[in-house]
Amino acid sequence: MTDDSKSRVYIFDTTLRDGEQSPGATMTHAEKLEIAELLEDMGVDIIEAGFPIASEGDFRAVSEIAQRSKTAVICGLARAQLGDIDRCWEAVRQAPRPRIHTFIGTSPLHRAIPNLSMDEMADRIHQTVTHARNLCDNVQWSPMDATRTEWDYLCRVVEIAIKAGATTINIPDTVGYTAPRESADLIRRLIQTVPGADEVIFATHCHNDLGLATANTLAAVEGGARQVECTINGLGERAGNTALEEVVMALKVRGDIMPFATGVDTRKIMHISRRVSTVSGFPVQFNKAIVGKNAFAHESGIHQDGMLKNKETFEIMRPEDVGLAGTSLPLGKHSGRAALRAKLRDLGVEVGDNQLKDIFVRFKDLADRKKEVFDEDILALVTAAMTEG
Ligand code: KIV
Ligand code: ZN
Repeated sequence: MTDDSKSRVYIFDTTLRDGEQSPGATMTHAEKLEIAELLEDMGVDIIEAGFPIASEGDFRAVSEIAQRSKTAVICGLARAQLGDIDRCWEAVRQAPRPRIHTFIGTSPLHRAIPNLSMDEMADRIHQTVTHARNLCDNVQWSPMDATRTEWDYLCRVVEIAIKAGATTINIPDTVGYTAPRESADLIRRLIQTVPGADEVIFATHCHNDLGLATANTLAAVEGGARQVECTINGLGERAGNTALEEVVMALKVRGDIMPFATGVDTRKIMHISRRVSTVSGFPVQFNKAIVGKNAFAHESGIHQDGMLKNKETFEIMRPEDVGLAGTSLPLGKHSGRAALRAKLRDLGVEVGDNQLKDIFVRFKDLADRKKEVFDEDILALVTAAMTEG
């Protein structure tokens, strides 16, 4: 299936807003500009650049990202307050393609905080979305904690937001509470039920508290969501947000069952992942899907032997497609003779079968004592085998 025959899913990246809200992940102004540039360059459709009312620094970052942007939609977040929305507009308006994203918590728990009745909140939504739409023709609205909001009330407020002019309706799973089937059903039923739903784009915004963010996001796409909200490396509050690299690669690798295309150049994933990890100070776990150090590494003898014969035996995507130079076959105590021979060849060492046997015995002995055996160790073993015979 070609990309042209697939439905388009828009990638909304919120690394600079929800990602940066992660305790300890604060980025400097220059770092934010750099990440925004990398996001635009990799083909992200919408960049949520920050929360302009939150601080002077956030306002400056969103404004400058807006001014420098060329192709991506630049979005700022605003609470359901006129002053927030005005400040947000001031920051994003210099972008060629600005968007205001305004939200309010609609579940019973969240309604209790501003102490608004259901009717009062509905009026507030009408007033704030109308205000945002009078400023900007691209307005996103989110009922925060949508997945714990009463169904009837959710339909009612989504309809109000659409009538007031919202062009994107985002359905957040703010606390990572939903599960895949429910996530798909919620979007599907909203699209079927709410008048005017077919005139807007539905978005999904999942958190990872139960480790289900990517699964819930993909399910929402199957339910009809055409914008997915995510962050690089899954950075975000608590257990994080949906990881951009996971959704994009899942859609690429499993296009056979999920026929949706994104505009992301996946070969730029590794670089931005490393930059976000460095500037946020959040290391990427070794076994993290797509971008972890071990995601394309194989240590056991059976796996290494298989990989040397045919890469597809243990890899479902090419490391080059996410921006890596290639597969890695680290040598350790589980490695076999085939991997050792391949490594020796890489290092420019040609040995006969007897020498290989001798070096292999020495290698196993060392690997039992050392977690990872490096190139220097192998070369030392070769020298020892040659001199000691
Ligand atoms: O998780 C959430 O509900 C949010 C909203 C502000 C969209 O981040
Ligand atoms: Zn969020």
